[in-house]
Amino acid sequence: MKLGFIGTGALASAIVTGLKSLADNSVTVLLSPRNAEIATGLASRYPDVHVAADNQAVLDNCDTIMLAVRPQVAHDVLSKLRFRPDHHVVSLIATLSREEIAALTAPAEKVTKALPMPMIAYGQGATIILPPDPGMAALFGKLGKAIEVEDSAEFDALSVATATYATYFKYLDTIHGWLKDHGVGEARARDYIATLFKALAHAPETAPDAGFMHLAEEYATRGGLNEQILRELTDHRVFDHFAQSLDGVHRRILKS
Ligand SMILES: NC(=O)c1ccc[n+]([C@@H]2O[C@H](COP(=O)([O-])OP(=O)(O)OC[C@H]3O[C@@H](n4cnc5c(N)ncnc54)[C@H](OP(=O)(O)O)[C@@H]3O)[C@@H](O)[C@H]2O)c1
Repeated sequence: MKLGFIGTGALASAIVTGLKSLADNSVTVLLSPRNAEIATGLASRYPDVHVAADNQAVLDNCDTIMLAVRPQVAHDVLSKLRFRPDHHVVSLIATLSREEIAALTAPAEKVTKALPMPMIAYGQGATIILPPDPGMAALFGKLGKAIEVEDSAEFDALSVATATYATYFKYLDTIHGWLKDHGVGEARARDYIATLFKALAHAPETAPDAGFMHLAEEYATRGGLNEQILRELTDHRVFDHFAQSLDGVHRRILKS
């Protein structure tokens, strides 16, 4: 596979880093020159990663093209490029539909949407792929989990879950701030929280048949401290508001 990237930013960098960290890293990569610092940095770190003279040179020299520019510039960037019918276009642009990408990259016949997460750099996390594609499932499967979906509505719904990462870290930051205010050293508090939540993250895997609420109840001993916080946040409708925010993100994804 000759893999080209249009847009060399945070996500392209994470994918290339993940791919080139594999024992079998035989994929040849050609990067578009923007962002220059990231592109030259990757090319200097890894063999078989090169920087093209311009975006069109990426298309002319590759069979699989990952689109990794921001949605705001996508129309402008893609409408200037000449795609071939045999290009496999893989769009990572979260908010543009497969139909919009297909229109912008015609006459390319094969258009796939993929939604990885930055942890792909370390071979972790999951990539959603629409529609199912054995080649992309194999590639992203080497870099974590690949989840192939047939239905764009399901892809859009799954995409909503990716909007919750920042909130998760704010949750951890709230605990961190509270611990610091109560005399725990910054580093110790961070280490303790990181270790606790790493262990909690494994709970669904160790009990594959347990629903999340079942796990919540397991930790919420009647009359205990976990039950107190869960009950108070539930009474304050924190989780209802959170679900409403998920609805809001979903509406935004459907409108774009
Ligand atoms: N980051 C994530 O976690 C994540 C997850 C899922 C999906 N995505 C999607 O992936 C896409 C890229 O996200 P990102 O976080 O990697 O964004 P980013 O870091 O801003 O990268 C976008 C890159 O595109 C470059 N660019 C701008 N104009 C260009 C042009 N005319 N030709 C070629 N490249 C150009 C930018 O270069 P300059 O720096 O020089 O402007 C930048 O390096 C977005 O559409 C986003 O929706 C991101």
